[in-house]
Amino acid sequence: MATAYIPIESALSDKQIGKSVSIRGWIYRKRDQKELIFLIIRDSSDMIQAVIKKDSKAWKSAEKITIESSCELSGKIKKDARAPTGYELDVSDLKIIGLAERFPIAKDVSEEFLLDIRHLSIRSQRLQQVWKIRSTVFTAFREFFLQRGYYETHAPFFTKTSESGLELFEVDYFGKKTRLAQTWQFYAEALLPVLEKIFTIAPSFRAEKSKTARHLTEYWHGEMEAAWMDLAGLAKVCEELISYICQKVAKDCAKELKLLGRDSKQFAAVKPPFPRITYTDALKLLKKDGMKVTWGKDLRTPEEKQLTTHYDKPVIVTHYPKEVMAFYKPKDPKDKKTALCFDVLAPELGFEIIGGSERDLDIKEMTKILKQRGEDPKDYDWYFDTRRYGAVPHAGFGMGMDRIVQWICGLESIKDAIPFPRTMERLTP
Ligand code: 4AD
Ligand code: MG
Repeated sequence: MATAYIPIESALSDKQIGKSVSIRGWIYRKRDQKELIFLIIRDSSDMIQAVIKKDSKAWKSAEKITIESSCELSGKIKKDARAPTGYELDVSDLKIIGLAERFPIAKDVSEEFLLDIRHLSIRSQRLQQVWKIRSTVFTAFREFFLQRGYYETHAPFFTKTSESGLELFEVDYFGKKTRLAQTWQFYAEALLPVLEKIFTIAPSFRAEKSKTARHLTEYWHGEMEAAWMDLAGLAKVCEELISYICQKVAKDCAKELKLLGRDSKQFAAVKPPFPRITYTDALKLLKKDGMKVTWGKDLRTPEEKQLTTHYDKPVIVTHYPKEVMAFYKPKDPKDKKTALCFDVLAPELGFEIIGGSERDLDIKEMTKILKQRGEDPKDYDWYFDTRRYGAVPHAGFGMGMDRIVQWICGLESIKDAIPFPRTMERLTP
């Protein structure tokens, strides 16, 4: 009969005490004593201490086994308060599956070195929690929209359309020049007359020259677009989505959050309504804090950071100056200097996790801005057809998936929110 292996997590239970179990995984730590060898075995679910006695038939393999070797073990479960996860496996059999060479990660290696060997350093216990939370965040995003009758759709990554004004990756496409997509939005707008409510999760590409803790050149972008929706309706979807993600992570990932030193109660408490403030009022608040921003300038990192210190939930900053916004964000008819748009800034993190807006229906206005910004309006002619044939009021937003993971996990850098980060300086592994 084939051996039934159980996840380590299920071995860590009073119900298993005295029982024989089989587990498999990788060696996380090894400590040799004269008569005993202690191993810590990890799998995707958890870790457990294993002890091998000198008179056991597993002793020879235990002597030979190295850090990060893969193996199969059988033995009896004991309770042991001194063991890292409270239980210990008294090993009777140990089979080495893949004997590891000397693992290159020791204490005191630099951050850069860890990124150079990211394909190995992704195994760390800390990052393992991040990957699990990241998976839950992506699942929550999908669930939220599917439950509300949205359809998942996809757009090309080779495209000439862009947010404009942002850095682009130009690529050679069989001798023609094209670009890597910065957003799914333009294609989403074309799909609205057929599907009305849609979303996607896909990579977006930004040739950001900035070396900051919040910028990737390839990041995961969760976007939604809905027909017949205005800014107030959009802001509501936004706060409900963030809350849904936080509730799900708090409920399903309490153990992972704890291992990262995060409190699941903090995220269970992230519920609508979120505070809303206009850009103009935000400047007044910043002025009181001693930060002077000239009206018309976009908010910079220190200003966004300062603003978020006033709130313990994400804050929705609305009505930014029209001048500095993407070409498709329409004027507010009540105050034409501002646009019908918002950014959502996360507390602690202190920067933007979501950007959204109503969409302009005025082809002339959009053409004028594109020209001013050095774009060729011809590249957007197909997009303007969405306005020519049965346009309806509509709105949408984009969420930086890696940024929301960064916030929830409490990570210094966005690089640790994604398994294989791409930045200005990092293209491998
Ligand atoms: O604000 P952005 O540029 O908005 C758009 O692209 C819209 N077309 C989205 C839409 O309305 N469908 O980007 C949206 C979000 C930002 O709020 C930020 O969280 C994230 O994408 N983002 C980045 N994340 C990581 N690295 C970067 N370089 C990012 N640039 C934007
Ligand atoms: Mg933005």
